[in-house]
Amino acid sequence: MGTNGGAVPERQKLVYEGKAKQVYTTSDPDRVIVRFKDSATAFDGAKKAEITDKGRINAGISAFLMEKMAAAGIPTHFEQALSENEHLCKRVQIVPIEVVVRNVLAGSICKRFGLEEGGTLPYPMVEFFYKDDALHDPPMSDIHARLFGWAEDWELAYLRHAALKVNAALQDFWNGLGVTLVDFKLEFGRFSSGQLLLADEITPDGSRLWDSKTKQKLDKDVFRRDLGDLSDTYRQLYSRVFGHGVDAPQ
Ligand SMILES: Nc1ncnc2c1ncn2[C@@H]1O[C@H](COP(=O)(O)OP(=O)(O)OP(=O)(O)O)[C@@H](O)[C@H]1O
Ligand SMILES: [Mg+2]
Repeated sequence: MGTNGGAVPERQKLVYEGKAKQVYTTSDPDRVIVRFKDSATAFDGAKKAEITDKGRINAGISAFLMEKMAAAGIPTHFEQALSENEHLCKRVQIVPIEVVVRNVLAGSICKRFGLEEGGTLPYPMVEFFYKDDALHDPPMSDIHARLFGWAEDWELAYLRHAALKVNAALQDFWNGLGVTLVDFKLEFGRFSSGQLLLADEITPDGSRLWDSKTKQKLDKDVFRRDLGDLSDTYRQLYSRVFGHGVDAPQ
């Protein structure tokens, strides 16, 4: 049974194969099946590897966090896990804006403004990037969205508001596990009803997570910067979230 009360719709065809996930249409035009892959990429796909169990670890973490966000009052695309690495989701038209929230300085913002990694911001910052791999997701502002037709003003206001709400809920959760939420990227989409939903994923692929005491990186930077074994790192993170390893009997 789906959470909408109906039967699980049938998988139809693969409509998108991305770097980390596959998207399938289903017999319900308003639903997709999202399959999390083991592949990891960095630097716009220039660096690639297969990471053991990454698909099921990310799927498990994303399902758990999407449900947490729904409980915090942020509507999401997630409906149910169909297997260890597949989710049934509401099908949305993705808003072509990557919404980034930062609590601590790291990554592209340091490069852009010549800042040192690790400085804590007095309050969270929301940034927009135009979602286009070929253009390397350039930074953008409201005027571009408005004049180029990417999103309406009310939608931009909602993205900011929802992203900060997600940040507060995620910070609460990660802090409780001794993990600092440095930054993360969200995608939103328009459902057939017109409602904006939090979509895509909430995973250590799209977040920076540091051990609060040791500052050890527990996210995809381990792969980007060759800091260790990403599969081991993600397994550690999974155990912190669920209190047991990904292979533990349920
Ligand atoms: N509920 C949804 N309905 C429709 N599309 C979705 C939904 N959730 C996520 N997507 C889209 O599905 C794709 C997931 O694949 P993946 O994350 O591997 O893409 P990617 O390689 O990161 O490329 P992209 O630049 O498009 O994000 C993304 O394009 C994402 O925007
Ligand atoms: Mg993606």
